[in-house]
Amino acid sequence: MLKRAAVLVGILLAVTAGAKPVVVGGTLASVTEAPWAIALNNTQSAASSGRYCGAVLVEPDKLVTAAHCMDEDVSTYYAVQGRADLGDDSVGRVSAISKVWIHPGYNTKDNRYDFAVLTLSKPFTGVPVLPLETRARADRAGVVPTVYGWGDTQGTGPDETLQKAAVPDLGDKTCLANQSYVANGYAAVTNVCAGYLKGAIDACQGDSGGPLVLNGRLLGVVSWGEGCAQPGEPGVYAQIAPAAKALQAQLR
Ligand code: ARG
Repeated sequence: MLKRAAVLVGILLAVTAGAKPVVVGGTLASVTEAPWAIALNNTQSAASSGRYCGAVLVEPDKLVTAAHCMDEDVSTYYAVQGRADLGDDSVGRVSAISKVWIHPGYNTKDNRYDFAVLTLSKPFTGVPVLPLETRARADRAGVVPTVYGWGDTQGTGPDETLQKAAVPDLGDKTCLANQSYVANGYAAVTNVCAGYLKGAIDACQGDSGGPLVLNGRLLGVVSWGEGCAQPGEPGVYAQIAPAAKALQAQLR
């Protein structure tokens, strides 16, 4: 009897471990391969590590993140570079945020233009930056960008450790076919629909504002989704290209 129970538990564990999410369902990423991946921490965070959102270094003193990450007082944020495990504060560089710009087109009703540009008090000099993707047609079904972040893994990986996952671009039609995505403001011009219709691999809470990277350029930032890694509910990313001019104007 006990043996049977143990076997059942074993099977359950195996099944749970197999359904991996990274980011939900991702793999470990190093800060060497993703030096521009920034943890946008906050002193108000529920996590003792300060984990809060992601961001991306686009100039030595400028980050792009999600506008919806910027609800707290600017003094509570700090950017961390070069720290794959947020629990290990013996490594990496830290800077406060001196200025926040929110894209004027952002609103919480349709979540469009979910972008903020942050200025670092102490530039991360010498760290490779990620260029912006300025071509709208880079977002098309079939390409396979990679998302990076320290967000929830739903048990599929270590918590608060930089993960990455390849998430196929499903094309706008896929997200426009989902009524609740349309109701939440999904728009072909300003969003990227990426992930897996079967679920299991996706960005998740805590990844917001982090980079979606294709061919060495910033294609989008993590914005929203229905749950994480759920079948039929891909990740929604704020697309850089339609906002590139406005963003670049903040980088000078
Ligand atoms: N809004 C979330 C955050 O603040 C990110 C959600 C991404 N969700 C998803 N299923 N791709 O971290």
